[in-house]
Amino acid sequence: MGDAVVVSELAKVVGEKIIVDRISFTVEQGEIFGLLGANGSGKTTTFNMLSGLLPPSSGSVTILGKSDKEMRRSKPEIGFITQENSFYETLTVKENLEFFASQAGVPGKETAAIVKTLLGQMRLTDKADALSSKLSGGMKKRLNMACSLVHDPKIVFLDEPTVGLDPIVRKEIWVVIEELNKSGKTIIITSHYMEEVERLCNRVAIMFSGRIVASGTPKELKERYKLKQMEDVFAHLMKPVV
Ligand SMILES: Nc1ncnc2c1ncn2[C@@H]1O[C@H](COP(=O)(O)OP(=O)(O)OP(=O)(O)O)[C@@H](O)[C@H]1O
Ligand SMILES: [Mg+2]
Repeated sequence: MGDAVVVSELAKVVGEKIIVDRISFTVEQGEIFGLLGANGSGKTTTFNMLSGLLPPSSGSVTILGKSDKEMRRSKPEIGFITQENSFYETLTVKENLEFFASQAGVPGKETAAIVKTLLGQMRLTDKADALSSKLSGGMKKRLNMACSLVHDPKIVFLDEPTVGLDPIVRKEIWVVIEELNKSGKTIIITSHYMEEVERLCNRVAIMFSGRIVASGTPKELKERYKLKQMEDVFAHLMKPVV
């Protein structure tokens, strides 16, 4: 399969502060790719640049062979699932999905079928008419995901999808992510949970202070640093180079 995302020398500088420091990596179509790093290492800033929310200071992003500027003009192939829920609590689950579909420019006659598919994928069919504010934390997370998938994007960005969720709900989200990937979507995820990373990610890039300090499969990284756990690899790489 071809490349989903090619990032080349991407940087973000705000005033004197280098937030993202000329990072390069490639995500292949069909992968679940993890962008890891301590708090403040530049992951969300990178995500925002990859998904067109934030203009880079320099460098380039190519999505499915198109520059990010071309992408914004054509049908968006990206779904961006933010950490904070962004649906409307006062609408029902179905109303939220219909609203997000209309915002995303989904043709009216296609909306019912898309909403039905997403309700099924996100295990929310029984809750279609429930008020969104009444959902459990895990259901809200799944609704939040569904709202960003109404236009059937090929590449899905997930920024810390399971933060603050209990272990059972977290595993439910993992299954949903795996199913999205099996249905053909390329997934790019940030996470602080190494168990989650090992379960989901084919490959990872680890950021420290705006730079990518290591990348590879979790197995390769553990072998490279002769460490048994990804947590140890992560801790090893979070030490500043002197
Ligand atoms: N617009 C901005 N102006 C100045 N500094 C910023 C701006 N946006 C982000 N930063 C800073 O850049 C650094 C990287 O932030 P970012 O949110 O990308 O990190 P992160 O890796 O996603 O962290 P976390 O794991 O906490 O979500 C932080 O120190 C943050 O305070
Ligand atoms: Mg972040």
